[in-house]
Amino acid sequence: MLFKSAILLASAFALSASALPCGSTAPAPATPVAPVATPSLAAPSSAPPAKSSAPPALSSALPALSSAPPAQTPAAPAQSVAPSAGGAITADTILSITPATKSCATAEFPNECADAARAGPAISASFAKYEITEKGTQAALIAIMMFESGSFVYNKNHYPGRPGQGTKNMQMPDNNKLYAAALFPDKIAGATTPEAVLQLVSGDNESFGSAAWHLTTQCGPEIQKGLAAGDAKGWDAYLTGCVKTTHTPDRDVLWTAAKKVLGV
Ligand SMILES: *[C@@H]1O[C@H](CO)[C@@H](O)[C@H](O)[C@H]1NC(C)=O
Repeated sequence: MLFKSAILLASAFALSASALPCGSTAPAPATPVAPVATPSLAAPSSAPPAKSSAPPALSSALPALSSAPPAQTPAAPAQSVAPSAGGAITADTILSITPATKSCATAEFPNECADAARAGPAISASFAKYEITEKGTQAALIAIMMFESGSFVYNKNHYPGRPGQGTKNMQMPDNNKLYAAALFPDKIAGATTPEAVLQLVSGDNESFGSAAWHLTTQCGPEIQKGLAAGDAKGWDAYLTGCVKTTHTPDRDVLWTAAKKVLGV
């Protein structure tokens, strides 16, 4: 379970290695690699053994596995919740989309995990910063971050352990370099390894802000309009045309739940 889940973390943004929306050379799509017993980026040596609560969204994230039916779906997705005043994303919003975000107590790498109480305000701040006001766009960005990070458990790629890939939408190193340079122009020169670059953008505000940054700076206006519309066509165009991943049905579970909670 652990390895089946965790190996999938190299998914979508692994395929969008280019920092540019189109045309740039992207590495070959991630080839599923046999799970290894030792995470190559194992962070804290004190990391507890894997728990059985691997997040549901990862169960069939890799394109190679896309023909498998979604193994699990969030336990109780999308309870209706009253939108908060001002439309901010709150802990309740996040919890209602997937209860898996309730706690980091069983997270494989606890120092990478952020629960709903941390995610809500950080996501809200990013939507304010990048002017993500449309509910359809908000739902899509929350959904992709949940999917890519296993309900916000992971902050970097562990399987296979691609150095510098991370943040909550599991961006590729090239994207993180651009993102970090935009946020920390005075520090980027000193970040001489992909890991150091990722470290610059690994705080909650930065990590939860990368999906909005990516959309607003690396995807074109048509993709953005499509997401704002909140329909399947726009979602598909975003995934295949800008994230450059395979649109597998399991990605729709969290997207549908997020739309329901946000009232899209
Ligand atoms: C995150 O962003 C919010 C809103 O801009 C701000 O109030 C908070 O201080 C930031 N947190 C950190 C750790 O920078």
